[in-house]
Amino acid sequence: MTAHLRAPAWIGLGMALLLGACASTPRATGSLYAQFGETAGLSALVDSLLERFADDPRIAPKFANTNIPRFRRLFVEHLCVILDGPCTYTGDDMREVHTGLDISEAQFNAVVEHLIDAMQAQDIPQTAQNRLIARLAPMRKDIIYH
Ligand code: HEM
Repeated sequence: MTAHLRAPAWIGLGMALLLGACASTPRATGSLYAQFGETAGLSALVDSLLERFADDPRIAPKFANTNIPRFRRLFVEHLCVILDGPCTYTGDDMREVHTGLDISEAQFNAVVEHLIDAMQAQDIPQTAQNRLIARLAPMRKDIIYH
């Protein structure tokens, strides 16, 4: 493909992303938890996230000794609570859990990027995505360098 043919393709992609961001899907209304597809949507989101973690050499080694089914269940619960859903988080405190893992800022950012990619893949409305990221951001201090 020549350069002059590539430019319109990029413009098309940009338009598609812009339209996607503005599109009003049924899930763009309702509670934040509903916009994530409730527990079923959160389970699918976490599965997609776990696949991304497994494929990322920056992240996968950190989970080498983790009971993944337990992590999956607790991560779904935790997200559900953060999104004001009708769940109870039965795991441990964020600082306690991540202490000893020595997670770097770059690893934290990589996890956030995977989360954004997974939310895009699940068609979570953009405003809902932004609200989740804003709620997770203050947890950063409890997760890195402990
Ligand atoms: C805002 C970001 C994050 C949130 C909300 C979060 C949340 C959680 C939750 C809910 C658990 C389960 C708690 C429990 O076992 O009782 C957990 C465990 C874990 N997290 Fe995170 N996490 C975050 C970032 C990270 C990052 C950046 C890494 C590493 C790159 C990481 C690595 C782990 C590991 C390895 C476990 C399992 C620990 C074990 O096996 O006991 N987390 N996290």
